[in-house]
Amino acid sequence: GPPWPLLWSISRVFLEYLEIPRLLERDLLRLKESSFSLVLPGKVVWVTGASSGIGEELSYQLAKIGSPLALSARRENELERVKKKCLEISSLSDKDILIVPLDLTNRSTHESATQSVLKHFGKIDILVNNGGRSQRSLFVDTSIDVYNAIMELNYLGTISLTKHVLDHMIQRKKGKIVTMNSVMGIMGAPLATGYCASKHALQGFFNSLRPEVAEYPEISIINLCPGPVQSQIIQNVFTEEVSKVNANIGDQSHKMPTDRCVRLGLVSMANDIKEAWISDNPYLAVCYLWQYAPTWAWWLLNRIGKTRIKNFKSGVDADVSYYKKSS
Ligand SMILES: NC(=O)c1ccc[n+]([C@@H]2O[C@H](COP(=O)([O-])OP(=O)(O)OC[C@H]3O[C@@H](n4cnc5c(N)ncnc54)[C@H](OP(=O)(O)O)[C@@H]3O)[C@@H](O)[C@H]2O)c1
Ligand SMILES: *[C@@H]1O[C@H](CO)[C@@H](O)[C@H](O)[C@H]1NC(C)=O
Repeated sequence: GPPWPLLWSISRVFLEYLEIPRLLERDLLRLKESSFSLVLPGKVVWVTGASSGIGEELSYQLAKIGSPLALSARRENELERVKKKCLEISSLSDKDILIVPLDLTNRSTHESATQSVLKHFGKIDILVNNGGRSQRSLFVDTSIDVYNAIMELNYLGTISLTKHVLDHMIQRKKGKIVTMNSVMGIMGAPLATGYCASKHALQGFFNSLRPEVAEYPEISIINLCPGPVQSQIIQNVFTEEVSKVNANIGDQSHKMPTDRCVRLGLVSMANDIKEAWISDNPYLAVCYLWQYAPTWAWWLLNRIGKTRIKNFKSGVDADVSYYKKSS
């Protein structure tokens, strides 16, 4: 008969070369969907950026499965609103949800914020680094102050909080650090040079931190990389100047629904998936192209970019116009 062991060895090498197992790990998330309701209930989760968008929805889904929550962001009144709804839709009680107002860019406050969560709950099982802001502006038109502000928030703010929480997790030899990265931590994108840089910085940081904590098998570093998701992100983007607000919001309805992004994020958290790409096409396909055939991805992005930039300059939201052109 055919030399099966030999054929198997050859095909295994081939599969591993193509990183098929990693593709499966990312794409077959749905198969593991039931698992998070077993792993996450009762875990104390600290969510930053809990006052809107993905962080708000994450708070609701965690409350429903019974995870005590610490909710952080700058706007305390919005956190109160989220807490109220969490209590309405879950069996959690008032003391199970702690509001911790926090500005990620004010790093001198991060230690006391961490202490207040620990004082209340006695532990932090999961930190979700979710707070952050995107960008819509061309590099040539943008002040360097904007680049500084993006790094202060998305990168330094995130690793500062992580440092305090990780100290506690190392003492317990246990915990999960989950970071809301982005497909823009994998690939590039015009009009978001600073945002992409900050997400790439986080990707490099956490991929380097992971081996530093490898001696603690129960501490996991999880990077979630969503594509476009419905949230307030376009309203809150950085523009050419730190104080300038974004005027072109456009229709966001084509983006992935927030609850689906969060659900897949919970699956990834529960299963300790180190890197999960949570995206619809065409963004997911571009991600694969970026990773496995970068020359083609660079060519494609130049073409897509041309349209995005042209539309941006004529005052149309870049994502929306790209979607309409491509569908
Ligand atoms: N939506 C997407 O398409 C998408 C895709 C990939 C990745 N992401 C990532 O997902 C995360 C959440 O974004 P989102 O889409 O849900 O946008 P969003 O609706 O604008 O939410 C952003 C959150 O970050 C908080 N935040 C902003 N500046 C802060 C600061 N200085 N200190 C503390 N918190 C701050 C905001 O709260 P306050 O204003 O009250 O402080 C808000 O709760 C971000 O890291 C983003 O990069 C989003
Ligand atoms: C940082 O937080 C401290 C303590 O709450 C506050 O006194 C200070 O004004 C804040 N700094 C900035 C720049 O917001």
